[in-house]
Amino acid sequence: MNQQTSIEDFIKKIPKAELHLHIEGTFEPELMFEIAKRNKIEIKYKSIEELKNAYNFNNLQEFLDIYYEGAGVLIEEQDFYDMTWAYLQKAHSQNVIHAEIFFDPQTHTDRGIKFETVINGIHRAVTDAKEEFGMSAQLIMCFLRHLDEESAIKTFKEALPYKDKITAVGLDSSEVGNPPSKFQKVFEMARGEGFLTVAHAGEEGPAEYVWEALNLLKVSRIDHGNHCLDDEKLIAELAQLQMPLTVCPLSNLKLKVVEDLTEHPLKEMMQKGLLVTINSDDPAYFGGYINENYLAITKALNLSKEDIVQLAKNSFKATFLEDSAKKEMIKKVEECIYETVM
Ligand code: HPA
Ligand code: ZN
Repeated sequence: MNQQTSIEDFIKKIPKAELHLHIEGTFEPELMFEIAKRNKIEIKYKSIEELKNAYNFNNLQEFLDIYYEGAGVLIEEQDFYDMTWAYLQKAHSQNVIHAEIFFDPQTHTDRGIKFETVINGIHRAVTDAKEEFGMSAQLIMCFLRHLDEESAIKTFKEALPYKDKITAVGLDSSEVGNPPSKFQKVFEMARGEGFLTVAHAGEEGPAEYVWEALNLLKVSRIDHGNHCLDDEKLIAELAQLQMPLTVCPLSNLKLKVVEDLTEHPLKEMMQKGLLVTINSDDPAYFGGYINENYLAITKALNLSKEDIVQLAKNSFKATFLEDSAKKEMIKKVEECIYETVM
């Protein structure tokens, strides 16, 4: 006789894709201290405990200030490898079978780290995960929107020799006051070179920024997108396009995009026919990886097993994989349902 499976075990077991994950946001305090020590860099917090206690944010900017500071201890290619490898191991342990990972080159090149050091370290870990776990991953290079477009263009040019290692370009960092329109030219250059595009929009910024991401940056996914719910016409457009939204519940809670998870718009988004996915954003800072995000939102909104299945299937539909690979992964979700007694 099969044992009944709890919703928690079902979440753990179901194959998932993660599509909104900043690799610098997976940098756990323990590894940060270890790498700081070997690079002989002083961290302003005396202990891991003290650092963790600083992880209380009132908004996106308060988080970003600490996040950029933490990334400052990454110097050698091995550092980027170790951080990425730690994430890939964790994701594999949570049954993430495919990940599309953001990295922020300007955070490092502006400190004098070479682009090649960053990309080679991250990419080597991705190659090892494929070999060791059969887990696939792709890379999305994000431009920091608080910097000017000239800096993004310079970074884009530096990335071109590594084009085969990068699938898409994205847009992150401080949203309000830095609309997608600021980056129209560099995104056009990126599309011209065959990159797909995504952008953070509607996390703290208005629905208008989501429109700009669609119409000016011609994105294939919207990262976050919470504020699309303020605009009925936009909801209809996103639903009609089946434009994926990469939603991050624990991030929204920690950055006070929502006051409480019970007020999170995920269910409303699903009911309105939007293609939403669950992701962890910056798990080392927000208190949970992908399974913790699924579990927290499931509990808060009383999601059903069918909702979880829908979210897992959506995650594969929304990937940049070929249709045949998407189908194969969705088949793995079906097999998991078949094996589960609830
Ligand atoms: N929003 C914007 N920029 C970011 C985020 C985010 O949630 N995480 C890391 N950089
Ligand atoms: Zn993000």
